Amino acid sequence: MSDFPDDIFTEPEDVDPDALSNLGPLRRLAGVWEGQRGVDINPKADGPEQREYFERIEFHPIDPQANGPQLLYGLRYHVHVNTREEDATFHDQVGYWLWEPATGLVLQTIAIPRGQVAIAAGHADADARSLVLTAERGQTEYGICSTTFLEQAFRTDSYRIEVIFNDDGSWSYVSDVTLMVRGQAEPFLHRDRNTLFKVAEPEPNPLAQIVAASGAN
Ligand code: HEM
Repeated sequence: MSDFPDDIFTEPEDVDPDALSNLGPLRRLAGVWEGQRGVDINPKADGPEQREYFERIEFHPIDPQANGPQLLYGLRYHVHVNTREEDATFHDQVGYWLWEPATGLVLQTIAIPRGQVAIAAGHADADARSLVLTAERGQTEYGICSTTFLEQAFRTDSYRIEVIFNDDGSWSYVSDVTLMVRGQAEPFLHRDRNTLFKVAEPEPNPLAQIVAASGAN
């Protein structure tokens, strides 16, 4: 049985072109952010390594997207992480955060240049002050897909991210990646956490810019 309409082709009409007004709980993420006090725990041959990091995250709205009747609003994001000790990128990540107003579905797509992608899902109210999204290896809907090397050496079994919107407008996250590291009996919890402060406003989505330039509303 399906929760979806019989007609899987017809897209909604009268869609508001202004994404920033329709992002539900993701509205609070829109913009450019920096966080100086990140903490990472990652797997090394001798055991867990803890590192401090700083990062910049950009979230800009995209035009509304329709999968037939399923209407999604969202943000395209880029995370760039460095450490004080070296210039080389410590972690890089791109994807989308998406919101389905009709159901409260929240999605994060994750692509990292280790050869790994995931879609994490959760639900939230439009005015939620926190978000929890999860993905699991082996799931075909909200799953994790990795290179053969990672599957064999650092099998990634699950992903969970919790976002908290703080009263001062900043937001914090804790990201947990559970890894089965080859040769180790116990799962490894690869955890990252940081608090982000806004440094710039988001750019309106392309369609909203066109509508604004044409003088329509
Ligand atoms: C701020 C976020 C993150 C930072 C700073 C970070 C950093 C790191 C570092 C430093 C390593 C060890 C690299 C090495 O020894 O070569 C590592 C390993 C790994 N990370 Fe992350 N990571 C982050 C988020 C994530 C996320 C979100 C995922 C997946 C959804 C992920 C998946 C992995 C995997 C599979 C490995 C093991 C592969 C390996 O060590 O070669 N990481 N990460």
